[in-house]
Amino acid sequence: EPAAMGVVGAATSLEDLRTATERCRACPIGHAATQAVPGEGPVGARLMFVGEQPGDQEDLHGRPFVGPAGQLLARAMAELGVERASVYLTNAVRHFKFEPRGKRRIHKTPAQQEAAACAHWLEEEIAMVQPGALVALGATAARSLLGRPVAVTAERGRWLGRADGRQVLVTLHPAALLRMAPHQFDAAFAAWLADLRLAFEGSA
Ligand code: URA
Repeated sequence: EPAAMGVVGAATSLEDLRTATERCRACPIGHAATQAVPGEGPVGARLMFVGEQPGDQEDLHGRPFVGPAGQLLARAMAELGVERASVYLTNAVRHFKFEPRGKRRIHKTPAQQEAAACAHWLEEEIAMVQPGALVALGATAARSLLGRPVAVTAERGRWLGRADGRQVLVTLHPAALLRMAPHQFDAAFAAWLADLRLAFEGSA
């Protein structure tokens, strides 16, 4: 229950949580980002997808999974016959971490300390949304959700239990698929789709 979570405790609605997240300076990332990016989707969603952090597009729009990684996730959901609006989409880290390079902003993986500083926002969101189950997209999300380092390739594709009893299915981050060589992509996408199908079937 949100009230029991002493770390923040003040947020009593997802809207409050969004406002509080915007002001958070518990790690250095927020200084450079355009805005905090909260999750979106219905309370009580059967599945909550947890990514790493907002990317360039998400930072600019203030919404999760609207850039290239989100488009690949949308394609997977379309192939599985699932509406994006039926799931809750969020991230382990609330602000975009990047390195300026000319006019571009290059994504940087958040440090473990930064992800740890952000984890209570995710926990509050889980407590408010009460998802049926969780999907961790990549190692940062998996570690935040399970509270231990996770080797994604070894632990992907099966349900893992959290201390609160919720089930988590770990799989690749869509950005990992986008970085693959073209000749590897089709098989990797099919395997990813199989993981996601399991998540939807197991949370029905
Ligand atoms: N990658 C993520 O992990 N999250 C987003 O919201 C977008 C890209």
